[in-house]
Amino acid sequence: MPVDILQTHKLLATCEAELEAKYTVHKLHEAADRDALLAGLKERVRGIAGGHVSAQLMDKLPRLEIIANFGVGYDSIETGAAKARNIRVTNTPNVLNDAVAELTIGLMIALARRIPQAHQFVRDGNWLKGAFPLLTELNGKTVGILGLGRIGKEIAVRAQAMKMRVVYHGRRKQPDEPFVYYSDLAEMARDSDWLVIIAPGGKGTDKIVGRKVLEALGPEGFLVNMARGTLVDETAMVEMLRSKALGGAALDVFENEPRVPTELFGLDNVVLSPHQGSATHQTRNKMGALVVANLDAWFAGEPLLSPVV
Ligand code: 8YV
Repeated sequence: MPVDILQTHKLLATCEAELEAKYTVHKLHEAADRDALLAGLKERVRGIAGGHVSAQLMDKLPRLEIIANFGVGYDSIETGAAKARNIRVTNTPNVLNDAVAELTIGLMIALARRIPQAHQFVRDGNWLKGAFPLLTELNGKTVGILGLGRIGKEIAVRAQAMKMRVVYHGRRKQPDEPFVYYSDLAEMARDSDWLVIIAPGGKGTDKIVGRKVLEALGPEGFLVNMARGTLVDETAMVEMLRSKALGGAALDVFENEPRVPTELFGLDNVVLSPHQGSATHQTRNKMGALVVANLDAWFAGEPLLSPVV
């Protein structure tokens, strides 16, 4: 008998097909009556594919053994509650490092050179009336990376290829890394031209980039958020971008995405992206395969490939 799995949100077609070939899959996100579905599955579901798993949901599935998250960030899963209930949690690290790092550099150049605005300028026929303004470059600048983890290190390598100086802030100094470490985030922001956020979301980092850090980055500074909207005080950021107290921002993530503060739409010092860090066929296929591989390993009694709990 195939194992019963609960899917909590839409996944890639390839991933869904693979899951359905191996498991009896129940789609919570498609259920007209979620409580009725869960009540009926109470004694059956042993695995979850996807995120957004609260302690409350765990309690409705007493036979749950594993949650295989689609994504490296697992802040939408109450991991403390999972641990307390002896439920394992896996994520999808590494396979998305290159995709996210590539988009980071892409958005940095897009912001420095206002690529979307320049594109619109040409399309609107404004070039016929005059030249586009002179802007700034990445080379010779300092980029402060908040979160020198697996993706942060790939961003660092690429920033160096852009001839930037790399510094970083995180919970601890990494003695094997060649970059200057700042134990104080605001100090790093003060000394940096760019602040790139690529640290995990969750309680520990909530609004870690607040007004004080944004003020330290200042009117010549650029903010790039590739992590989670929760890391930034979005209200302060929007206000400072409007008043030019902050130089600019390239944002792939937002506090209440897909809802984006509409005040950002009219600003010429921002570049907006709809959470596209890992959004390529190449990477999403690998992420989906890792979700399935973790479930397969667990139900075959083999070691998990990428456990976080
Ligand atoms: C999302 C991400 O998981 O991996 C992460 O943490 O932010 C993304 O890759 C993706 O948008 C799928 O929900």
